[in-house]
Amino acid sequence: MVNEKRKMMKFLDAEFVKGFIRMATDGCNMGWHERNGGNLSYRVKPYEVDEVKEELKAGEWREIGAAVPNLAREYFLVTGSGKFFRNVQDKPEDSICLIELDEKGENYRIMWGLVNGGRPTSELPSHLMSHEVKFLKNPEYRVIYHTHTTNIIALTFVLPLDEKVITRELWEMATECPVVFPDGVGVVPWMVPGGREIGVETSELMKSYDIVIWAHHGIVVAGTDFDIAFGLAHTAEKSAEILVKTLSMSPKKLQTITPQNFRDLAVDFKVTLPEKFLYEK
Ligand code: 13P
Ligand code: ZN
Repeated sequence: MVNEKRKMMKFLDAEFVKGFIRMATDGCNMGWHERNGGNLSYRVKPYEVDEVKEELKAGEWREIGAAVPNLAREYFLVTGSGKFFRNVQDKPEDSICLIELDEKGENYRIMWGLVNGGRPTSELPSHLMSHEVKFLKNPEYRVIYHTHTTNIIALTFVLPLDEKVITRELWEMATECPVVFPDGVGVVPWMVPGGREIGVETSELMKSYDIVIWAHHGIVVAGTDFDIAFGLAHTAEKSAEILVKTLSMSPKKLQTITPQNFRDLAVDFKVTLPEKFLYEK
């Protein structure tokens, strides 16, 4: 007899929880999460919630600080505010939490985790507003990741905070960048972190981009799964590292990838590269 009912399992044995913890640990090992820097959220699939529902216990409703009506009643696995990424692997029940949103998408309650108190990341509005934008465009998107990528942050002090310039520079420094992020990168000027305002700016740019740079702070990336989101951050940050090394050797490149090279690459790799990034310098 075929048993269609999915197996219940321990919260920490669920694949989505293991994937979340691995990504947090990988990010920490990259040096992107000093202290409590950065935050991660995952929109949980209904069957994944079912798998762990025996361990769930509803807490009090609290305000999100933003309205995300299109995400009403969705569940998210999220890092806790002030929690250190390096502790996620050893103390997940203290460092992360599963939250459920209410029927208006204005309040959340903790269903698992943060056993010693606390609340989800202070960037919850940015995460949820970005999740909402991505969900409306493509419901396959499930991951929003904010990380303090050293080299991208460094570049925001020396490059103009212009999406055309930064996209083009990142594309030029690693041949696969235009294939990995063909839409380019968005840029938010320096803003006070946490809360709704930076969330409004970020989610607006998420309508066009999967990577948004927060000047002098870090990046926010969106992806369909943990590998895609992590790989995107990794690719962009590696390209930024090459640019930092190049600029450290010489302020001027002797040769580089040309606009026509990018057009040829776009044909072979079947991506569309907006002409606004392929200007003559
Ligand atoms: P949280 O500890 O509240 O997640 O904040 C960390 C951070 O990077 C803010 O931008
Ligand atoms: Zn941050």
